[in-house]
Amino acid sequence: MIPSDIEDVLVVERDAFQMPWIRQAFINELMKNPFAHYLVAVDHEQIVGYCGIWIALDEAHITNIAVLSTHRHQGVGRSLLKAVIRRALELEAVSMTLEVRESNADAQRFYKTFGFKKTGIKKGYYTDNCEDAWIMSLTFSQF
Ligand SMILES: CC(C)(COP(=O)(O)OP(=O)(O)OC[C@H]1O[C@@H](n2cnc3c(N)ncnc32)[C@H](O)[C@@H]1OP(=O)(O)O)[C@@H](O)C(=O)NCCC(=O)NCCS
Repeated sequence: MIPSDIEDVLVVERDAFQMPWIRQAFINELMKNPFAHYLVAVDHEQIVGYCGIWIALDEAHITNIAVLSTHRHQGVGRSLLKAVIRRALELEAVSMTLEVRESNADAQRFYKTFGFKKTGIKKGYYTDNCEDAWIMSLTFSQF
C-alpha cells in the first residue's frame, strides 16, 4: 500500500467495518510507523482488499484485513493472509497474533483455516459496544 492507495482502501474499509479507520490512521501507519507493513489486493486495477501487520522483534500482529463484500469467497483474503505471513517469515517472526470480535464467526473460521487458534480474550475490547475480542495466534513452527 502506498499513500495514493488510501482513498480506495477507505472504500474497502467502510464497506467492511462498523467502526472503520479514518484516513489519518492509514497515513500514520504508512508514513510514521516503522513496524507497519500494508499490502493491497488488486483486481483489474481496482483495490479489492488490504491487510496490515506490525512486526516487532519476532512477533507479528495483524492490525486489519478486509475484502470488498463483492469480492469475498474468491480467495482474496487467503492471498492477502499468505502474503503477510510470507513477509513475517522473511523478517524472522516466529508467531502471529490478532484480535477479532467475538461475534465475527466468519473471520474466526477464516483464520482457523490457516491454523490460528483462540489463545485468549480481551474483555470489552471494542469501544462501540463493549464487545469482547478473541485473541487468535499462529506459531510459525507449525509450517
Ligand atoms: C475475513 C475476510 C477478510 C475473508 O476474505 P475472503 O476474501 O472472503 O476470504 P477467502 O475467499 O480467501 O476465504 C478463504 C476461506 O476462509 C473461510 N471463510 C472466509 N469467509 C468465510 C465466511 N464468511 N464464512 C465461513 N468461512 C469463511 C472459508 O474456508 C474460505 O474458503 P471458501 O470460500 O472456499 O469456503 C472477509 O470476509 C472480510 O473482509 N470480512 C469483513 C472484515 C473482517 O471481518 N475482517 C476481519 C477482522 S478481524
